[in-house]
Amino acid sequence: LRDKYLNAIGTAADESALEEVRLAALGKKGEIALQMRELGSMPPEQRLTVAPVLNALRDEVASAIAAKKAALQDAALDERLRAEWLDVTLPVRPRRMGTIHPITQVTEEVTQIFAAMGYAVAEGPQVEDDWHNFDALNIAPEHPARQEHDTFYMHRAEGDNRPPHVLRTHTSPVQIRAMLAQGAPIRVIAPGRVFRADYDQTHSPMFHQVEGLAIGRDITMANLKWTLEEFIKAFFEVDRVDLRFRASHFPFTEPSAEVDIRCSWEGGTLKLGEGDSWLEILGSGMVHPKVLTAGGIDPAQWQGFAFGMGIDRIAMLKYGIPDLRAFFESDLRWLRHYGFGA
Ligand code: PHE
Repeated sequence: LRDKYLNAIGTAADESALEEVRLAALGKKGEIALQMRELGSMPPEQRLTVAPVLNALRDEVASAIAAKKAALQDAALDERLRAEWLDVTLPVRPRRMGTIHPITQVTEEVTQIFAAMGYAVAEGPQVEDDWHNFDALNIAPEHPARQEHDTFYMHRAEGDNRPPHVLRTHTSPVQIRAMLAQGAPIRVIAPGRVFRADYDQTHSPMFHQVEGLAIGRDITMANLKWTLEEFIKAFFEVDRVDLRFRASHFPFTEPSAEVDIRCSWEGGTLKLGEGDSWLEILGSGMVHPKVLTAGGIDPAQWQGFAFGMGIDRIAMLKYGIPDLRAFFESDLRWLRHYGFGA
């Protein structure tokens, strides 16, 4: 009996086979249990010799079953561990995520640098009326600048007597809107889209400018120069800049200056602050008294400077991008090449 059950326990392949062996041996109607029940009807001397043997047999079978059960559970666990493992050291598959467009990124950088100098952000509409875009900026209807700007005019149906509207040709109309909205003193920048009918490697019909406007009691061109130097050092991450103010003309500033940065092109790479080349980066000047008046500010009490800079242009310089149009073609290969796409 002992060999029969120890053998059956040894060969039980799983827990349910083992349970069958247990029932056959020790269950209520099991072979060993039945024999133990017979002890009661045995003569005392026989019971004294048989009982210890049966007890020992029952204990041995029971502990063999328990041991086998534990072994089967171990084996089952080992099998699960083998089948269900996960290699956490495998490299993850790259997941592509969208990123901020370079123009947006540069706009944010510019905004942050000016914010640190106390400039708030002002906004205006991209579809602008011709008064804000031209007249209020001292650009009369017959002024040649209206032609130079290659303006996109909005179509007006017959009988529509709203003032003519244009796609704004620069961010300067936001100067007027900021003056009318908040009065003096003012310190704002106005980044945004502007539009001109022009298309080549450095011109796109839609591009971006950032306007700067500072109005106070005694703001001068010296403040303009310092502000631009600080901005350029921060934006291009250089210690030194050399700016050249070149006399120019804009109807809305007097005097006016175009600003160039000293640079060199060594082996095709731009170096700022040294060299014999000059790079034009913006237009600027002292706000014209007529413009202050149009903005509801008394030119006898207040004065200030304004500048307008091409965001796309400074982005091209910072990242060494030769063709402006690529910014607006949404070609992911190009964006990734310049490190902008995931
Ligand atoms: N609005 C001018 C342009 O688009 C730039 C400018 C802005 C010049 C402010 C002077 C002052 O060219």
